[in-house]
Amino acid sequence: MGTFYVSTPIYYVNDLPHIGHVYTTVLADTVARYRRLRGDRVFFVTGTDEHGQNIERTATAKGISPQEQADAVVSRYHRLWEELGISHDDFIRTTEPRHHAAVAAVIRRIEAGGDLYVDRHEGWYCASCESFYTEKELVGEKACPVHEKPAEWQSEENLFFRLSRYQQPLLELYERQPDFVRPETRANEVKSFVASGLRDISVSRAGGGWGIPFPDRPGQTVYVWLDALTNYLSALGFGGDEAAAYESFWNGGAGPRLHLMGKDILRFHAIWWPAFLMSAGLPLPTGIAAHGWWLRDEKKVSKSVGNIVRPDALMRDFGPDALRYFLLRDMVFGQDARFSDEAFLDRFNSDLANDLGNTVSRLVKLSRSAFGGRTPPEACGENPLIAKAEEAVAEYHRAMEGLEFHRAMTGLWGLLSEVNGYLVAREPWKLIKSEGGSTSVSRILWNALEGVRIVAVGLLPAMPQVAPRVLAALGAEAAPDGLEAMAWGGLPLDVELPAVEPLFPRIDKEAYLAGDPPPAPPAADVSGEDMITIEEFFKIRLRVGTVVAAERIPKSDRLLKLDVDLGDEQRTVVAGIAEQYEAEGLVGKQVVLVANLKPAKLMGVESQGMVLAASEEGRPVLLHPAEPVADGTAVK
Ligand code: ME8
Ligand code: MG
Repeated sequence: MGTFYVSTPIYYVNDLPHIGHVYTTVLADTVARYRRLRGDRVFFVTGTDEHGQNIERTATAKGISPQEQADAVVSRYHRLWEELGISHDDFIRTTEPRHHAAVAAVIRRIEAGGDLYVDRHEGWYCASCESFYTEKELVGEKACPVHEKPAEWQSEENLFFRLSRYQQPLLELYERQPDFVRPETRANEVKSFVASGLRDISVSRAGGGWGIPFPDRPGQTVYVWLDALTNYLSALGFGGDEAAAYESFWNGGAGPRLHLMGKDILRFHAIWWPAFLMSAGLPLPTGIAAHGWWLRDEKKVSKSVGNIVRPDALMRDFGPDALRYFLLRDMVFGQDARFSDEAFLDRFNSDLANDLGNTVSRLVKLSRSAFGGRTPPEACGENPLIAKAEEAVAEYHRAMEGLEFHRAMTGLWGLLSEVNGYLVAREPWKLIKSEGGSTSVSRILWNALEGVRIVAVGLLPAMPQVAPRVLAALGAEAAPDGLEAMAWGGLPLDVELPAVEPLFPRIDKEAYLAGDPPPAPPAADVSGEDMITIEEFFKIRLRVGTVVAAERIPKSDRLLKLDVDLGDEQRTVVAGIAEQYEAEGLVGKQVVLVANLKPAKLMGVESQGMVLAASEEGRPVLLHPAEPVADGTAVK
């Protein structure tokens, strides 16, 4: 069992997330889940890049502070990642103190290495890239080659980093580790760029912009790319008191350290970042992998270009896992791909509704009818599907390890099609008519179900919400703890097949594109009596407060007494959570309080409210706001 570190870029908070951000994050999540299921200890980090000119300007234009702008966008990111089942271990924000500490630590090491000096800096700047361009690189009327917006001339005294010193060490790195940059075409671009000569770069801005003050250089602000790249270490606790994660996931002896990103920011990662780290005397990442762009109307989908695709509608209508599958399947890692609703709907209907959904429901129906609602009672030792499955599994692992996600998916779908071919050749539906649940029917259906089960296990990293449902529908273990479960033979004999909802109801593409919403998923209880009006709901006053003191109530196993600060007043509440929570651990945490509940005495203590908790089979799980808010804030 090794360690595995994987990161996404930290995204700018000048606008809301779009399909491009979802893409990288879904890839990283798929890798992280895959490695965990292989038994690795994983550290998966994503986050937000909150400093720089672009964000400052966006905020100013809206009349809010950059921090307010950042907070608003970050909460959207949190919600989106939750809906998509993103399993990151940390979310780093560059406005956090722990990040400032890491940036200062890295800069001090670079300074000690003698790689910083002051000089006049001049150049063409694109605020959307937060990057300088040479006159030659500009397009049209002195416009940025990525955003095609006019670049601005800047001239000031600031700090330079001796990037030129690292030309040779970088070329040696690429030589020594030919897969340091992936895919290969991108590695070649990087190599020839470096070979053509590296100039020193400016790493600070004069004039106190929105950012981290440059250590020991009054009046200078850390340039946003040096700031941002360091996030990969600050999330591990580097430069702080608690650096255990840094020690195990990055420092000597740690396993792979992979940065995923789009090709737009490859140079910063493949050239600048390793150079900064070499200068600071710190270990390098082991791999930099850059994917292509999702295009719309032949242009990169981009906030700055304004042709964005927001994932919300697709997720609402087809579920998060359908979107995850589409992104993994329809882009060849490293190449560009065109995004369209039509391509999405075609993929949904052919791969998910037809190949996966129909195969599952057809097999389950056959098994139900032949074996009284149960899986087949007898397996068979030898059959042609075993070798096909073994091939598909080996191909799947090769593809996942090589970040060839589309190939991992097509490999699994290849096995599905073998299963369907096997069924068509054996025609168990005919045999059932003549023989009922005979031994040969049992063997045929078991083989086919087993093939689909292996596909579903392989889908766990890609479709973390749907794959367990498929497994459960097949009568198999829904949450196997490792990918050894892809070995042939795991489907239990003669167990009950649960009743399940259709997994992916086919979509009428024309109607959908014409604006008809798809059939709504079955709603919760909307039958009448249980419903309340919004006015009734607002009678309950919910407020956020911070626990300032907590203690066990003597002679009670279950009750804690909490003092909760609501900003304008303090409340004492009694909560039945002592079996799940230690009193000390709650101090400083924010909770949600029912603030207008009639006081009640419990074990001699007056409780002036109630804290909210999810109740999972009677086990309370406290609710906290997703990010800190002012005490007293209303919840509605
Ligand atoms: O560059 N297709 O942030 P950003 C595919 N803060 N992926 C896309 C995409 C598209 N059309 N558009 C964006 C920044 N992405 C910096 C990064 S890291 C130390 C600092 C994805 O908000 C892709 O991963 O502009 C790309 O690299 C990233 O979003 C850029 O996000
Ligand atoms: Mg960008």
